[in-house]
Amino acid sequence: MDGNGRWAKQKGMLRAFGHENGTKSVRETVEACAELGIENLTLYAFSTENWNRPKLEVDTLMKLLVSSLKKEIKTLLDNNIKLSAIGNLKSLPKKVLRELNEVIENTKDNKRMTLTLALSYGSREELLNTVKEISIKVKNNIISPENIDESIINEHLYTRNLPDVDLLIRTSGEQRISNFLLWQIAYAELYFTPILWPDFKRLHLYDAIIEYQKRERRFGKTSEQIS
Ligand code: IPE
Ligand code: MG
Repeated sequence: MDGNGRWAKQKGMLRAFGHENGTKSVRETVEACAELGIENLTLYAFSTENWNRPKLEVDTLMKLLVSSLKKEIKTLLDNNIKLSAIGNLKSLPKKVLRELNEVIENTKDNKRMTLTLALSYGSREELLNTVKEISIKVKNNIISPENIDESIINEHLYTRNLPDVDLLIRTSGEQRISNFLLWQIAYAELYFTPILWPDFKRLHLYDAIIEYQKRERRFGKTSEQIS
């Protein structure tokens, strides 16, 4: 979800105004995905690198997170959506963590869609954490090195309960991944749109999905093999 700052700047407003308006796009996208029957939606809300932004902006984003969680619990319950989170969550402010855990707890039995927030998330940090966890298990003779395979790695990632990514959408015209789900997007279809995140609405999501539906996903095979 990129482009909040530029959106605000274009309007002669502060970056915080862009972030606030970005939450409207979040609500619309979440509802639209649930209606379409998408089972998993993961939103990159705050990266490990975002901690390096000016303190005022980080504080604003954390406050916005708390208020959005409070406000949107109703949207999640009304739409039968389960909330989940990935990332180095222990680095989040206590207030955020408390609110996050409360919403996760209150929506844990919802079945229609899982909405995962990537918070203080970085793919390299996730992989480091995975290597450490597996190493400890090897040291304690719980796993033997020759048995380490892709499924063992998957089971130790923050995304252990999620399938691989099918479609990755990045807004605002940037054409890069920026440390998001690097392992998990190995065969994802990538979709880049110049739309700034606060302008990203239901129809833009539909455009991305229509484009996705036109792609032929071969997973290394030939076209003949999969048709
Ligand atoms: C995305 O918008 C929101 C977060 C990363 C939290 P940006 O804040 O990156 O907006 P730009 O890229 O400066 O326009
Ligand atoms: Mg940005």
